[in-house]
Amino acid sequence: MDVLVNNAGIQNWMEIGSESFYVRAKDEIAINAEAPLHLIDLFSQLPSMRTIINVSSGLAFVPLVNVPVYCATKAFLHSLTKSLREQLRGRNIEMIEVIPPALNTDLGGKGIHDAYPPVRAFIEAIFPQLEAGHEEVTFGFSEQMAASGQVFDPAFKRMNQLS
Ligand SMILES: NC(=O)c1ccc[n+]([C@@H]2O[C@H](COP(=O)([O-])OP(=O)(O)OC[C@H]3O[C@@H](n4cnc5c(N)ncnc54)[C@H](OP(=O)(O)O)[C@@H]3O)[C@@H](O)[C@H]2O)c1
Repeated sequence: MDVLVNNAGIQNWMEIGSESFYVRAKDEIAINAEAPLHLIDLFSQLPSMRTIINVSSGLAFVPLVNVPVYCATKAFLHSLTKSLREQLRGRNIEMIEVIPPALNTDLGGKGIHDAYPPVRAFIEAIFPQLEAGHEEVTFGFSEQMAASGQVFDPAFKRMNQLS
């Protein structure tokens, strides 16, 4: 096995103070943040591993207030990806972040995302980026959000003494 894709995720619409807030938050953290962290740790130890793909979100960069913990888990995954990408470079493992915008899937429950673009359009847009070797691939509305994160790339490189 040479590729790991961390795609599984849930999105909970919720309000602080509501009865199940903390329990639902813990589920979201376990599935969206802890699981990819654990899988990266395990799979990066396989000698055959070459590519790890983490699916984050445009909401990693600009939060949507109705899904507060979801956005925080995606910000976690974005930050984790940036650091571990550099650690794994020396082991010949590439780490790619896929940054989708809102798309028409069942995320958050049936119907919530029906008005958004089909997944096909997203796939067609990101494959050329993958083929071109981009480490962050994105599309549509998320392009702007991801660009906001790139503002800090010079500081990231300077702090970590990267060329
Ligand atoms: N759709 C969007 O607007 C959007 C935007 C940005 C980012 N994303 C990200 O894209 C990824 C895929 O989401 P989607 O839009 O395709 O949503 P989806 O249709 O709800 O699919 C979610 C996927 O996660 C899996 N999953 C959920 N909980 C799991 C668990 N406890 N264990 C194992 N698998 C679990 C589901 O598996 P089962 O089918 O077996 O339950 C399903 O394959 C997620 O990380 C999501 O955050 C989506």
